[in-house]
Amino acid sequence: MSDTYLKFANSFLGKQVAPKLGLPQPPVLKRYVPGQKAVDGAVLVGQAAGGRLAGAIAATLKSADAQVWTAEGPLRDAAGEADLAPKIYAADTAGDQRFQALVFDATGIAHPDELQALHAFFKPVARKLRPSGRLIVLGTPPESLTAGARVSQRALEGFTRSAGKELGKGATSNLVYVAEGAEDQIESTLRFFLSPKSAFVSGQVVRIGVGSSKASAAKVDWEKPLAGKVALVTGASRGIGEAIAETLARDGAHVVGLDIEPLADDLKTVTDRIGGSAITLDVTAEDAPKQLAEQLKKEHGGVDIVVHNAGITRDKRLANMKPEVWDQVIAVNLIAPDRITYALLQGKVLNTGGRVIGVASIAGIAGNNGQTNYATSKAGVIGLVDAFADDIAKAGGTINAVAPGFIETQMTAAIPLGIREAGRRLSSLGQGGLPVDVAETIAWYASAGSGAVQGNVVRVCGQSLIGA
Ligand SMILES: NC(=O)c1ccc[n+]([C@@H]2O[C@H](COP(=O)([O-])OP(=O)(O)OC[C@H]3O[C@@H](n4cnc5c(N)ncnc54)[C@H](O)[C@@H]3O)[C@@H](O)[C@H]2O)c1
Repeated sequence: MSDTYLKFANSFLGKQVAPKLGLPQPPVLKRYVPGQKAVDGAVLVGQAAGGRLAGAIAATLKSADAQVWTAEGPLRDAAGEADLAPKIYAADTAGDQRFQALVFDATGIAHPDELQALHAFFKPVARKLRPSGRLIVLGTPPESLTAGARVSQRALEGFTRSAGKELGKGATSNLVYVAEGAEDQIESTLRFFLSPKSAFVSGQVVRIGVGSSKASAAKVDWEKPLAGKVALVTGASRGIGEAIAETLARDGAHVVGLDIEPLADDLKTVTDRIGGSAITLDVTAEDAPKQLAEQLKKEHGGVDIVVHNAGITRDKRLANMKPEVWDQVIAVNLIAPDRITYALLQGKVLNTGGRVIGVASIAGIAGNNGQTNYATSKAGVIGLVDAFADDIAKAGGTINAVAPGFIETQMTAAIPLGIREAGRRLSSLGQGGLPVDVAETIAWYASAGSGAVQGNVVRVCGQSLIGA
């Protein structure tokens, strides 16, 4: 399914006509191309006094070979001067300098008065961000703090979410809360949010290092962060599942794709293309968890990454919904991931350091007319993240979920035109996402560098107004 209006708005004719008629002008988002640098362009870094992340930010930007600028001279943090020799940016003299990313360490803000530092850093450069640029604020999880620090760190959410609505031109704005002690765990997350891999993720709040196992000290190969890993992807024959399978394979994983019998040929086409394996199975079958656990153990020695992508919709208003329609949706979307996760964990089929990733939906956050069954199941997927977090962390792993918004697939192609257009345009990025946008977010969770990314539900929705 493609967005015809997006193509028109970006054509020569569309660029003349759309502004004159006051029509939406959704930008073409820059997306990742293999081999591309994590951040392609200048990065301006700032820090509120007393911050603790300058060293970690500097290390990531250095490893990503980024061109770094600061507004105040060398970066310093509690540990001393960060290992970075940036170019110095002075708003009044730097003329036409444009930035691919603006990164601000707000961890030092301990009182609402000090929130002024956000204004002081971002205001002079708010118009200096390039199309598809990135605004990233780093803070401390408010729940770990008290009094003024807790209030101020919580306040960062309002700033980043509003900035996301103002930036335009495909730029995104996100907030990353880094727990104290998890400073050395930020690289995979910072790389993800800086890069075009996060093209459709905006207005999100992510937590690193809360109750999690840490990434191994071993150096991550950022081109192949999943090398040597086995990844199970359910519903892999088409749509978002196909993109997840391709993306995890691109990152080095051996992908075991799963789908139902009628789609066996399509599934095999996908898994053959990416050098993976195929399993034909209905995830709701009584013995599916057992069968899957046995097969993964026997043929692959276990599994490192489990992506519960298989899902269905059977929309009806509650008053018209037959009980079997309710049951089908709950069975596929919620009961199956619950049972399979439990079986893989109990049977020790999920390898140490494993990653379990749920696919929820913004319908599970905001609710949706005609989707009481679907929204219940998807809110339940968010519940699975909470329910399994402790046990999976004990096994050295993580569990997180994505909540896609409007993604261009067969599922959304079936939506009536008016509602489909609203789903696309009523968002900060003014368009639907692509399956690869969900897949890239999942690949970030799965990455060898994301061992401290635990318990998150990130919406991949272009900052949709629904469920904001
Ligand atoms: N497309 C969107 O905009 C969107 C938005 C939010 C969430 N999601 C979620 O993303 C996931 C993928 O959606 P999609 O749009 O690619 O849908 P899709 O219908 O194109 O693909 C779903 C896949 O799951 C498989 N599947 C269904 N029931 C199964 C079963 N019992 N056992 C094994 N496999 C089964 C299907 O055969 C299919 O291959 C779903 O969980 C969906 O709820 C999609």
